[in-house]
Amino acid sequence: MSGTEAKPLVLITGATGYIGRRLTHHLLPDDRYKLRLFVRNQRKIQAAVAESVEVYEGSTFEPETLAPALQDVDTAFYLIHSMGSDEDYQKLDIQSADNFRQACIAAGVRRIVYLGGLGNRESASKHLLSRIETGETLSAEPGKISTIWFRAGVIVGSGSASFEIVRNLCHKLPFMLTPRWVRTKTEAVGIEDVLAYLEQAIELPTEQSLIVDIGSGEITFHEMITKAAKVMGLRRFLVPVPVLSPKISSYWLILFTSVPIRVASSLVEGLKSETVRENDNARIHFPTIEPISYTDSVAHAEHELEQNQIISRWCDSSSQEACDIKDFDNPAGAVLRDIRVVDYKNQASQDSVFQSVCALGGPNGWFRYNFLWRLRGIMDKLSGGYGLSRGRRDKVELRVGDALDFWKVVDIKPGKRLLLYAQMKVPGEAWLEFDVQTDQLIQTAHFIPHGLLGRLYWYSVLPIHHLVFSNLARTVVKASDNFTSS
Ligand SMILES: NC(=O)c1ccc[n+]([C@@H]2O[C@H](COP(=O)([O-])OP(=O)(O)OC[C@H]3O[C@@H](n4cnc5c(N)ncnc54)[C@H](OP(=O)(O)O)[C@@H]3O)[C@@H](O)[C@H]2O)c1
Repeated sequence: MSGTEAKPLVLITGATGYIGRRLTHHLLPDDRYKLRLFVRNQRKIQAAVAESVEVYEGSTFEPETLAPALQDVDTAFYLIHSMGSDEDYQKLDIQSADNFRQACIAAGVRRIVYLGGLGNRESASKHLLSRIETGETLSAEPGKISTIWFRAGVIVGSGSASFEIVRNLCHKLPFMLTPRWVRTKTEAVGIEDVLAYLEQAIELPTEQSLIVDIGSGEITFHEMITKAAKVMGLRRFLVPVPVLSPKISSYWLILFTSVPIRVASSLVEGLKSETVRENDNARIHFPTIEPISYTDSVAHAEHELEQNQIISRWCDSSSQEACDIKDFDNPAGAVLRDIRVVDYKNQASQDSVFQSVCALGGPNGWFRYNFLWRLRGIMDKLSGGYGLSRGRRDKVELRVGDALDFWKVVDIKPGKRLLLYAQMKVPGEAWLEFDVQTDQLIQTAHFIPHGLLGRLYWYSVLPIHHLVFSNLARTVVKASDNFTSS
């Protein structure tokens, strides 16, 4: 495209949902397109995103809001469903898709791209049937508009409901009684591959409408659990039982995961019959995409969880409301946290509090409950860890990569953030974060527990954490008197 040519305008609906949010972040850095979001409530859009795209508020049930949002649009992504509403969502979904297709045709949109679910009419659950009917409605006028209709099974990515179920079951249950449906075949696909298909659909050189089934190979829910457990370093035993009704299975899922009953039952219902690929269009029309294996997508999701929820969740904001990275994926219960907030308005400066944070550890110690830190260090040493013996490289300065007793410095934003990663022996992964805002210190201990033991560990040390962490945050602020603002 020449520099003078206008960039194609791409509209993303459902941009506050799981797939839409991920697609927005995926396309945002791509300067081949101009992005526009269509959402019901623009306050749900992250501040940093809203600054870089056009946002139109409306609903597919209010066609008058669709017309302006679709003006000049080249490709429109339809990533909407009505499952959460109390009314008959099947009817609503058809109405919504019908309004959308008609509005797209009227506005001269070149292409609709839709992501639905795998399955066929004969055996589909109510939820999957509604996804099929949505696809049929969107592609009902192929002579007037091209529709690329993707169909996926289980999408593996941190924050995706079905993957969070697998993750929670693996972590919390060493033994699982499994019903028959865990042997039903489905398809899994990594979220990154889904995004690659959606992106390539914009420029797919065809005038026609297509149904494209995507996945990385057939897999059962049983295999998903055992393979995911292996990636997570856990051994899990699945014991089949002849009777476990779908209803009981759904209650079982909501007991051990925090997905709502509606999501749990639609997953179980969906797994009662096979949902596998029925066409080879992904390979034919998207030959450059080689979906990664289920195992690799689980490993990727685990890495992403750590990255998004802890390492890069911080943002440079003066008030926590504006910090919108932390809820990027919101995976259920994956990260346990101890959060302490100490206000220091008019008592200390941001700079001196940060200096106080950076003086922790080594010969300077960890304040009042030093003996508990020392005890933890001895326990760590006895179990083969570093203990507190490493101290710190320099009495004043800290750098990324520095050892700090049994921590390692993994991020420093001068004057604002210090993130420490625990190198002590714990059944999971732990971080300690100091987020120095203009008038408050937010100290967070993050813990990604490893299996059941990790959770037991976290809950058993809660009383100690209560003493140590509340004192630590308060004393860091108090000790800032010893430092002067630069
Ligand atoms: N997530 C998966 O694992 C998965 C797997 C296979 C297929 N899919 C397909 O991917 C598509 C998107 O799913 P998702 O998981 O991203 O759903 P989601 O997280 O539940 O998001 C649904 C989105 O639709 C919006 N919406 C609902 N009704 C609307 C209306 N009338 N007008 C405008 N916006 C409306 C919601 O906005 P509000 O925020 O205002 O409610 C929300 O942004 C669906 O077709 C689904 O079948 C998803």
